Amino acid sequence: MAEELDLGECDVLVIDSGAEYTRVGFGGEDEPSIEMRTVVARADGPSRIGRVQLAAAGEAAGERGQVFVGEAALAKRGVLELVRPISRGLVNDWDALEAVWRECFAAVGAAPARTPVLLTEAPLSPRAHREELVRRCFDAFNVPAVYVGVQPVLAAFASGRTTALVVELGASSSHIVPIWEGFVIAHAMRQLGVAGVHLTEFLARLLTEKGLYFNTPEQLETVGEIKRRLAYVALDPDLEWLRFGARHAPAPDAAGPGAAARARSSRPSSARLDVSRALAASFELPDGSEAVLTSERFRCAEALFDPSLLGREEQGLAHCVRGAIDDAPVDLRRDLFAAVVLSGGASLMAGLGARLEADLADGVAAGVRVKVHATESPQLLAWQGGAQLASLPDFQAMWISRAEYEVTGAACVHARCAGSHL
Ligand SMILES: Nc1ncnc2c1ncn2[C@@H]1O[C@H](COP(=O)(O)OP(=O)(O)OP(=O)(O)O)[C@@H](O)[C@H]1O
Ligand SMILES: [Mg+2]
Repeated sequence: MAEELDLGECDVLVIDSGAEYTRVGFGGEDEPSIEMRTVVARADGPSRIGRVQLAAAGEAAGERGQVFVGEAALAKRGVLELVRPISRGLVNDWDALEAVWRECFAAVGAAPARTPVLLTEAPLSPRAHREELVRRCFDAFNVPAVYVGVQPVLAAFASGRTTALVVELGASSSHIVPIWEGFVIAHAMRQLGVAGVHLTEFLARLLTEKGLYFNTPEQLETVGEIKRRLAYVALDPDLEWLRFGARHAPAPDAAGPGAAARARSSRPSSARLDVSRALAASFELPDGSEAVLTSERFRCAEALFDPSLLGREEQGLAHCVRGAIDDAPVDLRRDLFAAVVLSGGASLMAGLGARLEADLADGVAAGVRVKVHATESPQLLAWQGGAQLASLPDFQAMWISRAEYEVTGAACVHARCAGSHL
């Protein structure tokens, strides 16, 4: 019987699922055992054309009803419809997410009935969503216990803090989250509509200026790879333009916020620039040809600081961080400025920490110390926080046990896994 298990004696499975990656491994470990793409392909899914193609490939007999997850799903691209169960921090296909979890258990060889599970979720996700996470986990896998941790809270914890301002830049969603003593200060939190996938799409658009066109999902994967290898954040974009050989410094902000940045972004590369070869970098495309990147290398990331480059009417990253700290209680603000923590894969962009720190320092009151903390693997922070939390002796009292779930239902998650301070 699950209730008779001593949870403190069980290996805890920590599953951090995001829009692009799912990280899974055991509590107490330093790193996840497995990192898989959060994508599913179903052989009996909605794509009829896909089924016909699959049959034509002679695979139908063995694979009808079969579900492919991660790389195995991506290998079915063009044959089966790919389902990405999470987008912008929300689950949009619960059956597909369940398939991802099933793959997680199988991949690490864990028996669900003897494995407490710590799941993660985006900050301030809807109540019904948290309940469904718990319900699915208990009902589909019969696990002995569940806990749901809030990603930026876990990230702060992994960085050694319970009070911090977490800048979480993921694949499809970005959150700027002030945290006090392990609680999200909900009213001060900000969402930013620019995340990794938007930077990839923006880079693809910038590359059209060079006559390079990337349209299909597969081609955009290539652009994502180019971004990861070659893109960086300039400390001062105006100076960076000069380094790249612009004949004139960019015009001052004459026509409203974002105008100068827009002008910079759309400046034709050949007419007004004599591009410095030294900063150019090349990337070999899958067809063997070469893409040479110049100013696109830093222009891509500028969309984080000025979303108007993407046509978005919202404030950029430094504004959001400042706004979130300004909305936090006054006696906390100094601590938050000194504890800005970068989390999420998109924060891996070289130079991001230094630029954010410089932009924030420009305008804070004298004597306020601004410190942006970057770790080597920010994409793992939420998972690592979960793995550390699960191994604390005091944490054992925080599990939602199966017995409790059976009595109270999934709604107990709100009291047990409270993550926000409203
Ligand atoms: N070196 C890098 N430079 C720039 N971007 C990077 C780098 N490495 C990864 N990324 C980007 O980070 C994103 C993935 O981040 P992460 O793994 O935190 O997302 P996720 O948790 O799956 O998604 P989400 O948190 O949005 O649900 C992708 O857009 C990827 O292109
Ligand atoms: Mg994430």
